[in-house]
Amino acid sequence: MGYTPEMKELIKRVEATRAERIERTRRGEYFPAMTLEEREEVLRKFHPDYKSEGRREVRVGPNKGEVYPEEFVDVLEAYPRIPPDRVDFSVLPAHTTDVLVIGGGGGGTAAALLASDHGCKVILATKLRHGDANTVMAEGGIQGADQEVDSPYFHFLDTIGGGHFTNRPDLVAALTRDAPLVISWLESLGMMFDKLPDGRMRVRHGGGTSRKRMHSAGDMTGSEIMRVLRDEARNRPDRIEVMEFSAAVEILKDTQGRACGALLYNMETEEYFVVRSKAVVLATGGFGRLHIQGFATTNHYGATADGLVMGYRAGVPLDFMHSTQYHPTGAAYPEQNVGLLITEKVRGLGANLLNIHGEQFVFEREPRDVESAAIIRECVERGNGIVTPVGRYGVWLDSPMIEELEGPGTIERELPAKFVQFMRYGIDIRKEPMLVYPTLHYQNGGLKITPNAETAVPGLFAAGEVTGGVHGENRLMGNSLLDITVFGRRAGRNAAEYVKSLAEEPGEPTLDHVREFVRELEEAGVDPSRISPMLLPDYTTPDVKMRQLTAHYHGTIR
Ligand code: FUM
Repeated sequence: MGYTPEMKELIKRVEATRAERIERTRRGEYFPAMTLEEREEVLRKFHPDYKSEGRREVRVGPNKGEVYPEEFVDVLEAYPRIPPDRVDFSVLPAHTTDVLVIGGGGGGTAAALLASDHGCKVILATKLRHGDANTVMAEGGIQGADQEVDSPYFHFLDTIGGGHFTNRPDLVAALTRDAPLVISWLESLGMMFDKLPDGRMRVRHGGGTSRKRMHSAGDMTGSEIMRVLRDEARNRPDRIEVMEFSAAVEILKDTQGRACGALLYNMETEEYFVVRSKAVVLATGGFGRLHIQGFATTNHYGATADGLVMGYRAGVPLDFMHSTQYHPTGAAYPEQNVGLLITEKVRGLGANLLNIHGEQFVFEREPRDVESAAIIRECVERGNGIVTPVGRYGVWLDSPMIEELEGPGTIERELPAKFVQFMRYGIDIRKEPMLVYPTLHYQNGGLKITPNAETAVPGLFAAGEVTGGVHGENRLMGNSLLDITVFGRRAGRNAAEYVKSLAEEPGEPTLDHVREFVRELEEAGVDPSRISPMLLPDYTTPDVKMRQLTAHYHGTIR
């Protein structure tokens, strides 16, 4: 298939400016970075977070009165899948364990391992298969200050700066301090990091890093992390029981208000069942599949905000849910790849971003939110975007530069997944650029936690993308794989310590908190047909599909 004849004609303009751009790059001359004022202006005018449309006030729960994206408020302000009065704990099948971990990605699996290391029996419940999560889709790397010229201090400053100085400092301190330990833990589990010929780690810069600390495994870093975590967990069948296709739909609390398990739904048999536990860890990931503001997403199919809904109903406040991360370079062509992550590493290796005239218009390593806003401006305001056959906007990411700058074979070695994902559709990214546009990548906000991964509900811990505060209003590349491993480990260890500290077994499970939430929904007049958690996105309803998949067609962004 490949590019259309019209697109191939436009690519000639990219080729016409390439030799000169390569020369400039070799001389270390880059497109000028924006001033702080310019950044603020482009964010204010073009970043989706700054639009007043598509947001509304939450009417119920701990964050009542705050304004969030309406797609998220729709699932937050919704009724339970099963009314609490229809749940009879005396007849539902029940399993028992010490720690219930909800979520089978990197965060949940790290939590399960640490809880098991600390002497607890664990059930890990996941709504898809173990490992079907955003972790395996993470590409570019994981940060960790383990080089001589670096320290957690610099990593801390970079992270806070990247988050526009809004991050919770105690969480950033925990993240950056544990990072070197986590890198060596992953290696001890068998992770194959990219190495130099002499055996040292090959580290690179990511956007916003003052030192090279990005550790990678090709452009499949998350997949490699998940491989070793899952292997380790599956090798402990006597201590970690994995329940696949088992979606949690409510947290259970005992009469003292402590988390004591969950109500789950078997996605295959469509039956409800219960896991009773002494502590619960939520590691359910983010909300990309809600397609906030109509954006395509890098996220896997299960990213539907379930953990946020369950945690919120149980009484955990949210933090930073006003802030969403759009990755600047999602695939805009071919249609089969739309939304797919094109790792920041492509720009790190030297590829320029170019408009329809083959001209640079932005420094390639601005913070992600600024970079995304600049691409949207180039297409929407300046009319310099390339329009695909179905009417999507995009700009060129000139990947063939990489082979010129770094030598032949670099793309297949450093970006093997991207190479295959485009070759499959007849586009050889060694020879032709990729067409890209911002894509919904990450939920900056989430459940509020302490550095020990505790929530406001005793016995309920949370880790990874379901939490908020670590990254403030903008996350740096490589801090997400770090977040899930650091806080996954902390959640697992602290859940185990909590279990050991309990003087008595938790009492009988209740859903009184859900009853109370329903009462609030009724008082607020919320439409009773709205049900959550969503569990899987619905791409079959025509209007939803239209809204989710076409909002960024030519001209509709305004
Ligand atoms: O660009 C990337 O590889 C994305 C990494 C991240 O979000 O951490």
